[in-house]
Amino acid sequence: MDIRGLGYVGFESPDPKQWLEFATGVIGMMPARSIPGESAIAPGQEPPSGGSGLAPDGTAFLKMDERRWRVAVHPGETAGLRYVGFEVTGIVAFERAIAELEERGTAVTHCSEEEAQQRSVQGLAAFADPSGNRIELFHGPVSDFKFVSPVGVKRFVTGELGLGHLALFVSDMEATLDFLIRTLGFDLSDFVRFGPGLSIQFLRCSPRHHTIAVARIGDICGLHHLMLEVEDVDEVGQALERAEAAGIPITATLGRHRNDNMLSFYMRSPAGFDVEIGCDGMHVGDGWIAREMCEADVWGHKGLTPDAMQAAGDEIDPEPEGR
Ligand SMILES: [Fe+2]
Repeated sequence: MDIRGLGYVGFESPDPKQWLEFATGVIGMMPARSIPGESAIAPGQEPPSGGSGLAPDGTAFLKMDERRWRVAVHPGETAGLRYVGFEVTGIVAFERAIAELEERGTAVTHCSEEEAQQRSVQGLAAFADPSGNRIELFHGPVSDFKFVSPVGVKRFVTGELGLGHLALFVSDMEATLDFLIRTLGFDLSDFVRFGPGLSIQFLRCSPRHHTIAVARIGDICGLHHLMLEVEDVDEVGQALERAEAAGIPITATLGRHRNDNMLSFYMRSPAGFDVEIGCDGMHVGDGWIAREMCEADVWGHKGLTPDAMQAAGDEIDPEPEGR
């Protein structure tokens, strides 16, 4: 299967507007210029959503590059991950991927044209990973260009690298790795061991060192963090200043990860999970040899310990509705 990157991600939160304010004012994303289902924007014409990023059902759509949207926050009783969207290059790769999934015994939902439109894509399919997360596969994303950050972020590093990376807690590492590597075709870049049976594994589907990290540090499932990459250290520092000014809790201080070279900090988003803002992420090619890492950081990232991650995970509802 030839997954090319993380195309979009959907969360659930009791207060999507609060996340929209955080995403625009602190991260520097833009409310979507148009939302799923709205037609092409002619010069001088506003779509019904008026650039608010808000859909009639209260969902907030956020833009960070040429794509119509990359992050959606849906209203719901719980906070956390609702779906992950992976992209393939086109219809042939899409059909081949669905056939491979079904050959390996994965139950795939073939989504309708209307459902695809709700994600602003041409073709959509969905299935569950071994932890029950909803994974979506798509081709043909809508692009409406003209990204302008409301707080002056020059650009988010996306393109062939996808929108960023996700770190998930999983309760069954063996089944999860088997699914990610043998079914979805991800490659292992490296891993860190915390203790017997406890580790974090970093997997890639593009030159980005990892698009998915999966951690087993207890019997918890859920999202630990979403990483978004900016251009340079000044952009990371400015995001940190905006977070501090807005009173957002900093959950890991500025630091540089050993494995992917990312210089970053972590903050607690209003939907419970963390957001990592970083730069300098390493690119990995086909000849890369997977390795075990014995240290997580070159310096900094104080607060990012397995115990603190476990504490963050313990706040996660183990079986949120709608997952
Ligand atoms: Fe990360």
